[in-house]
Amino acid sequence: MKIFFVTKNKHKFLEASEIMRKYCIDLEMLEINKPEIQSLDLREIVLHGLVNLYSLVNKPLVIEDAGLFIRALNWFPGPYSSYVFKTIGCQGILKLMDGIEDRYAKFKSVVGYIDVKNIILFEGEVEGAIAYEARGNRGFGFDPIFTPKGESKTFAQMSMQEKNRLSHRARAFKKLAEWLTRL
Ligand code: IMP
Repeated sequence: MKIFFVTKNKHKFLEASEIMRKYCIDLEMLEINKPEIQSLDLREIVLHGLVNLYSLVNKPLVIEDAGLFIRALNWFPGPYSSYVFKTIGCQGILKLMDGIEDRYAKFKSVVGYIDVKNIILFEGEVEGAIAYEARGNRGFGFDPIFTPKGESKTFAQMSMQEKNRLSHRARAFKKLAEWLTRL
């Protein structure tokens, strides 16, 4: 089975492909612009993207939207994670967290799938903490400052396989793979 994954993020694509391969599902990366609406709800952003992209591509496809939610910052940056990463980045988040003891944060992922008969969303999340300094050079985005619960390494210090045992994205894609397999 082959499904298009519309994304411009190679890391996301490789992480998702590794999960889907275990279920004998092939992902193909499709680098086209994803229409995005502004919303506080990742699910709404993904639904809107799915409907718009399907009318262009007309083939079974998947998209994903994710974000980092930090409790001490009232769950900022959340759905604005991409913009915040581009503007202030990991160092900016560390500065905002300076002197704050409550380091609790989570990553959330919403994966959406659409074909001629179905439109469905799957969610995954991982709890953890914002590190006190950036560590590691693997992965992407906020990986160097996020330590999953129960671990001492940040995501950026882990191999992709290690990150995939724990990550929000892996959890959401596993749910999609299991649903496709049942179908
Ligand atoms: P997107 O809108 O789904 O591309 O993700 C929004 C932003 O959240 C990205 O630009 C990253 O900065 C951050 N993000 C999402 N998933 C991850 C992850 O697995 N690791 C690190 N940062 C992530």
